[in-house]
Amino acid sequence: MAEKSFKYVIVGGGVAGGYAAREFVKQGVKPGELAIISKEAVAPYERPALSKAYLFPEGAARLPGFHVCVGSGGERLLPEWYADKGISLILSTEIVKADLASKILVSAAGESFKYQTLVIATGSTVLKLSDFGVQGADSKNIFYLREIDDADQLVEALKAKKNGKAVVVGGGYIGLELSAVLRLNNIEVNMVYPEPWCMPRLFTEGIAAFYEGYYQNKGVNIIKGTVAAGFDAHPNGEVKAVKLKDGRVLDADIVVVGVGARPLTTLFKGQVEEEKGGIKTDAFFKTSVPDVYAVGDVATFPMKMYNDIRRVEHVDHSRKSAEQAVKAIFASEQGKSIDEYDYLPYFYSRAFNLSWQFYGDNVGETVLFGDADSNSATHKFGTYWIKDGKIVGAFLESGSPEENKAIAKVAKVQPVASSLDQLAQEGIGFASKI
Ligand code: FDA
Ligand code: NAD
Repeated sequence: MAEKSFKYVIVGGGVAGGYAAREFVKQGVKPGELAIISKEAVAPYERPALSKAYLFPEGAARLPGFHVCVGSGGERLLPEWYADKGISLILSTEIVKADLASKILVSAAGESFKYQTLVIATGSTVLKLSDFGVQGADSKNIFYLREIDDADQLVEALKAKKNGKAVVVGGGYIGLELSAVLRLNNIEVNMVYPEPWCMPRLFTEGIAAFYEGYYQNKGVNIIKGTVAAGFDAHPNGEVKAVKLKDGRVLDADIVVVGVGARPLTTLFKGQVEEEKGGIKTDAFFKTSVPDVYAVGDVATFPMKMYNDIRRVEHVDHSRKSAEQAVKAIFASEQGKSIDEYDYLPYFYSRAFNLSWQFYGDNVGETVLFGDADSNSATHKFGTYWIKDGKIVGAFLESGSPEENKAIAKVAKVQPVASSLDQLAQEGIGFASKI
């Protein structure tokens, strides 16, 4: 098969791939120079929509409505945009081999793509219960959610199993967002996770207590401290029940599993330096291999603020890292330099009528403030994280745009916290003064 050749290739057409393409155009890429190769059949879109509005029972979001870059208030890049700019958008094409020494990528269909500069934006894939050998985990109607095809399958199942029963396995982002949207679809929900409270990688016990109470009020039955140990299926192969490790058995027409993600670095194993599960980069997302950059979920990069190196699996970083890498590519071609990436972590989620934002680092002592009563109609609360006498992280549920800006500023400025009691009393007022 013929070999195609490009000056720049982005492998992966997800969030980072899309935002990188926009930045290439801003930097003056010429027609014919750039290709994006993606396993998915659609142009880059804002992935967060898949676990939220895409699954609404009414008024659901559909493409082309949420192509990048609408999620950050930018222009919506329709497939025509790529054609207009002379960018080759090569869809439904999985790269199965990468040779970084000879600068060649090979697709599953055997096509070869040569590049001068490569941007790796392959994102993450889901961890599957079948990977852990859970019995019956390949039954029908057990769903994972990463790509639009996964979401479409879930939409079909929701139609087929109207008013049915679901078990949600996992108490992280997917678990919390999917339990909520399944309830909106009038599905009975049991949510199962091993930890003592939900989303332990970010939430304190106090934060989690609010969400657990709120979810229970919305009809989600939460089962903690155990895991799915196996599945029973009907003769047609569809899941019938989830067997928990503690011996309980839960009926299920649909199972949604969110037990974590794994960055897709396999293609590059042994060819590029890795760290903390990702591809190691510098502050410009340059990897250990010349002319190869890695952005988004796959990059392990210097977190300047915390003098540390980390990987981040959230959309804000995927957008910003993509822009930084492309700026760095053009700067290095022009013999110029740009500022190092100086990222303030920003995560958020939305479910039911709830909406939270978090900025900074969740380490040290914590102070819970505000009305965190899940039965209160006027709930609004937050948490500060304090390390070495300074506020290093801030979380806020149901904040106004100004209040969210205020907690972002606190996490960035890291003001001294002289008294934890005073912080608890002042609450969001403290952030608003900074
Ligand atoms: P991303 O996964 O977006 O894209 C990778 C692309 O590469 C995919 O299109 C994939 O098919 C393709 N690819 C992989 N291997 C390939 C190969 N070998 N050949 C060709 N193509 C290949 N974050 C947040 O902050 N707030 C939120 O609300 C949410 N919500 C959310 C919902 C859901 C359902 C998910 C799955 C994730 C989120 N996230 C989130 C996380 C956020 O979406 C995620 O961090 C970014 O999408 C990461 O962007 P990347 O471009 O790195 O990967
Ligand atoms: P996660 O890491 O947030 O949560 C995984 C959860 O799995 C853990 O909290 C734990 O409760 C649970 N778990 C682990 N092993 C289990 C087992 N054997 N049985 C039952 N539960 C088990 O991962 P996720 O929720 O699967 O999300 C996948 C990816 O998508 C992540 O990268 C995440 O950042 C991203 N995402 C982000 C958002 C957001 O930022 N709002 C929303 C959706 C997805």
